[in-house]
Amino acid sequence: MTEQTNPTLILTSLKGRKGFFRRIWIVIVGVIVTAIFLIWPSFANSPVDYADIEDHFKYGSIGSENINGVPYWIWKVLPELFSDKLPGQGYTSLGFIQEQGKDLPVGFSQRRVLIDRIGLNCAVCHTGTLRDTSTSDRQVITAMPANVVNLQGYIKFLSAVAVDPRFTANRMLPEIEKISGGLNPIQKLIYRFIAIPQTRDALINQGSQLAFIEEQPEWGPGRVDTFNPYKAIQFHFPMDKLREDELIGTADFPSVWNQAPREGLQLHWDGNNKSVDERNKSAALGAGVTPTTIDLPRIDRVADWLWELPPPKYPYEVNTTLAATGEKLFQNNCASCHAFGGANVGQVVPIQEIGTDPHRLDSYTYETMSNQNTLYTGYDWRFKNFRKTNGYATMPLDGIWLRAPYLHNGSVPTLRDLLEKPENRPSKFYRGYDVIDREKVGFISTISEEDGNKYFEFDTSKPGNSNSGHLYGTELSPDEKDALVEYMKNL
Ligand code: HEC
Ligand code: HEC
Repeated sequence: MTEQTNPTLILTSLKGRKGFFRRIWIVIVGVIVTAIFLIWPSFANSPVDYADIEDHFKYGSIGSENINGVPYWIWKVLPELFSDKLPGQGYTSLGFIQEQGKDLPVGFSQRRVLIDRIGLNCAVCHTGTLRDTSTSDRQVITAMPANVVNLQGYIKFLSAVAVDPRFTANRMLPEIEKISGGLNPIQKLIYRFIAIPQTRDALINQGSQLAFIEEQPEWGPGRVDTFNPYKAIQFHFPMDKLREDELIGTADFPSVWNQAPREGLQLHWDGNNKSVDERNKSAALGAGVTPTTIDLPRIDRVADWLWELPPPKYPYEVNTTLAATGEKLFQNNCASCHAFGGANVGQVVPIQEIGTDPHRLDSYTYETMSNQNTLYTGYDWRFKNFRKTNGYATMPLDGIWLRAPYLHNGSVPTLRDLLEKPENRPSKFYRGYDVIDREKVGFISTISEEDGNKYFEFDTSKPGNSNSGHLYGTELSPDEKDALVEYMKNL
């Protein structure tokens, strides 16, 4: 070794000994190449990529693993080590969708930044499931709302494990060794001295920033508070000092197919942005991406695909005569606000007129807006389209049969219920069940428990959950309402 590292020694001893000189260099180059080969993957920033676009949507990276990502092996052992903090077995007990033969649930991506890390992508909130009957297989449908995912449960789980005394290298490493088949010595050191303590601190920090979530009425599956976590994490708003009425902003996940005809429409539930591109990039921030870690090429790949992705067609029988009657009713009562090209589509109906729950609207404040419009300062894509509105947006209803429960807060379980006056809509129902309701159109919402799975009771009397307003069509006769619902299956 001294010979290799001491140049004078090497030079003197090499005079006239060309063969030896060559051998030494071969050894040096060999050592360097091997070292690079071994160490480089640890430093390379390399996401796991998928050739198939649907797989990319479900499992590909948008750049959320870097800072907010959880190291792969920690993420893997958490459900086992902290099974007492989950409603059931594994991450699927929070509603995450596990496809056969896949390592991660839908909506989780992987990237190596020093070590492998797990992050969230668009599919965690924008991919759902459907069953024909309670005994049928689950179909996974990309770009529909994530109707079964309990994201609040996941956030609370991560906060709870971080403050648990079991979150230590001594407790975790043996579990990791068991399932990983053995980490290499470098990885072991990284996990013990960097990954585990850093992740614990980061999760504790995130838990305290998001502490307000513990006070909110439960989101239940299929919903998220869109802008409050954003205020806390991206803008460091002092959440304990905010007005109480802006602290609940629970919103139903929307579908994200067919974006091209949505360009220029005021969308998001409150119509606060008319640019598809900004809605996409803003959503990425909600998934834990930061302006420095955002992976634009991979998000663009998703965005390009969503641009013309058609909504799935209603696969069951439709009574065409009844639907034809319904079509006329739709044209007369609904199309101006809800059909592509309708005179009022993609516009905001003032809250006094629409009369639905005001919380989501009030949660988006002028201050949030001005902070959002500073995001990406210095880049071409700096946000400039966010605005504060005074109501909720009219949106196209393509694929509406898969978008239940309805309204921005998901407070009405089926289309048929939406056509009833608020006092006749269900005041309590269950969410998270994915069997189609072909009669009323939506998901069956009367099942509280099945095969050990408990479903979430949605209580419309809780703040943010009101099922009031949107009285359009409620004066029609029962037969007309049935016809209208029949027609809407085809949208
Ligand atoms: C944490 C859950 C979550 C993630 C992750 C997420 N979204 Fe969303 N997305 C939502 C919610 C909730 C809304 C409705 C927001 C509102 O108005 O309150 C939304 C709205 C949208 C909209 C506007 C839909 C409309 O018609 O109003 C688009 C487009 C969109 N998301 C695309 C994306 C893309 C692309 C990604 C990934 C880069 C993504 N989303 C990631 C939850 C999410
Ligand atoms: C004046 C405009 C207007 C008319 C007319 C109108 N709506 Fe709406 N609609 C809205 C607005 C605004 C919302 C969003 C309200 C909210 O979520 O708080 C909405 C939401 C909906 C939703 C929920 C969408 C989702 O993804 O959850 C459905 C379904 C719907 N309307 C159906 C109808 C039907 C059917 C008719 C005709 C009988 C109709 N609307 C007439 C403005 C209108």
